[in-house]
Amino acid sequence: MAGQPWDASYHDGPPPWDIGVPQPAIVRLASAGGFAFTPRTPKAGLRGDAGAVLDAGCGTGENTLHIASLGVSVLGVDVAETALAIARKKAADRGIEVEFAAADAFHLDRLGRKFETVLDCGLFHTFDADERPAYVASLASVTEPNGILYVLCFSDEGPDTGPHPISQEELRAAFNPSSGWNIVAIERDRIQTRFHNNGAPAWFATIKRI
Ligand SMILES: C[S@@+](CC[C@H](N)C(=O)[O-])C[C@H]1O[C@@H](n2cnc3c(N)ncnc32)[C@H](O)[C@@H]1O
Repeated sequence: MAGQPWDASYHDGPPPWDIGVPQPAIVRLASAGGFAFTPRTPKAGLRGDAGAVLDAGCGTGENTLHIASLGVSVLGVDVAETALAIARKKAADRGIEVEFAAADAFHLDRLGRKFETVLDCGLFHTFDADERPAYVASLASVTEPNGILYVLCFSDEGPDTGPHPISQEELRAAFNPSSGWNIVAIERDRIQTRFHNNGAPAWFATIKRI
């Protein structure tokens, strides 16, 4: 059954989070060089997938496609096949070289690949507290030592918070040295949705793999 409820959310038009363009916070991060050290053509001495980016829970791929359009090697994964089909069609229509695959975020090790940079845009906040340790361990299993994880999630600082808002304490409880991570920064940001005029309050966390 994994993935079927999520898949259904893509059946009748775009779901609330699917704004048809990359999240502004991700565009800013990319412009600031957040993915810049991950060239599609590996530098001499780097093995095939070193330096690649993983977009976990990529949906219909706007963030993945934006990163790929910068010439970065990126894999977008999701459980929703309908979302992946839409993402692949966008890539073909736009002529962007990118990879999308069906994968469960709780078993990323099954990809058999490691990534220098991982993006979680709107996935972490969908998991309940008791699910987070397994997800965090799964992320750790595919992130290179000193690799960077970016998490953009709804924050609990109102007004007009999104569903499943997350506190800073919850982020720190999930990502800490005992789970293999150090939080570098947690900054206030916004997540745009189809139902918020100016987005919902968000945390943008930069987290480093130990
Ligand atoms: C809120 S949406 C965000 C989608 C996309 N990142 C964006 O910014 O538009 C969360 C996405 O995570 C996917 N997802 C949920 N649980 C997942 C899991 N266990 N493994 C992989 N993807 C999952 C859903 O199908 C959905 O596309």
